[in-house]
Amino acid sequence: MRIDILTLFPGMFQGPLSESIIQRARERGLVEIYVHNLRDFAHDRHGTVDDYPYGGGAGMVLRPQPLFEAVETITGGDSSVPIILLTPQGRLFRHQVAQELAGHDRLLLICGRYEGVDERVREHLVTDEISIGDYVLSGGEPAAVVVVDAVVRLLPGVLGSKESAVEDSHASGLLEYPHYTRPRVFRGWPVPPVLLSGNHAQIARWRREQALRRTMERRPDLLETANLSSEDKKFVERVKRGSLPSA
Ligand code: ADE
Repeated sequence: MRIDILTLFPGMFQGPLSESIIQRARERGLVEIYVHNLRDFAHDRHGTVDDYPYGGGAGMVLRPQPLFEAVETITGGDSSVPIILLTPQGRLFRHQVAQELAGHDRLLLICGRYEGVDERVREHLVTDEISIGDYVLSGGEPAAVVVVDAVVRLLPGVLGSKESAVEDSHASGLLEYPHYTRPRVFRGWPVPPVLLSGNHAQIARWRREQALRRTMERRPDLLETANLSSEDKKFVERVKRGSLPSA
């Protein structure tokens, strides 16, 4: 996959995209990431990319010209590349959206800044708008890092079999079960005995039930759309009726 990022602050990507799993994926040629400075596409000497809003009001607005020309240059006119604007007005970024984006050969992410972008960019240039949550960031850069991270870890070969994305929180539509490592007892708090039993079927069932309980408690909205077996549904009903002790 190739990901292009268009930003006024290329330096904000240096650390996050050169460490850990993303860096490893880049080194192995599984993803190419290019960060472009929007100012390079301005026409005047000062690299002006913003201007006052028509009609007055506070703040500056990103002008359409540098954005259109940057996108046209970066995509080479290939209209199959998704042009994604990071904005609090976009659709909410969730695991399903990450999966959808991971299915493309290329992505172009545009980081908004200032009060906003000229509406003609929304209407005639971008093909998608994404928000990473209901809060306002100073710009789309941290949101772009979030999107790149969530998408890259889903690309084939990026995670080894031991860190598989299949068991991630949200991949199954449920929150993840609790994890434990050594020692068996830490400051008097023991590891649940079932995990030491060596009984793989029992361990799998316990983990599934923990994931179900956790999701019921913390994110009951996710249960509505999760893929539940008939055994899962019976378990959820028993917990709801209170016929099972709390975990
Ligand atoms: N830019 C500013 N706030 C944002 C958000 N919540 N998501 C995506 N881009 C943004």
